[in-house]
Amino acid sequence: MTKYLRYGVLTLAAFLLVAGVHSAVAQDAAQKTGAELYEKNCMSCHTPTPAKMMGKPVDGLVASMEKVKNMSSASGPLLKMQDTLKALSPEQIKAIATYVNQLKP
Ligand code: HEC
Repeated sequence: MTKYLRYGVLTLAAFLLVAGVHSAVAQDAAQKTGAELYEKNCMSCHTPTPAKMMGKPVDGLVASMEKVKNMSSASGPLLKMQDTLKALSPEQIKAIATYVNQLKP
């Protein structure tokens, strides 16, 4: 191995390490914001342990929330949930889903 090739491999290894750590940190941040957002926006109706949602796949939870957000005939509590969802960004909805997904049923 030439000196330069060895240097390249080391650089690549360092890059992969940093990228891996970074995504783990991003995941933690999403779970923390998700927990706060859930507590503030959802817990009053869905309790701290929403049995029907805990541990469900993130994509499915996002889809369910989008469904309610875009419903044209929501009324009662669902209308209130819809108003809550309309005030949230797609990133916030994803963060909530990530949090609910890691709750243990
Ligand atoms: C005002 C009360 C209320 C609030 C606030 C609320 N929800 Fe709901 N939610 C409901 C009701 C009522 C239903 C329909 C009955 C059920 O599935 O429990 C529902 C249904 C759901 C469903 C299932 C949708 C489906 O039909 O597939 C999900 C997922 C959900 N809520 C997530 C959330 C999240 C996440 C938040 C916070 C951003 C939230 N809800 C805020 C009352 C509320």
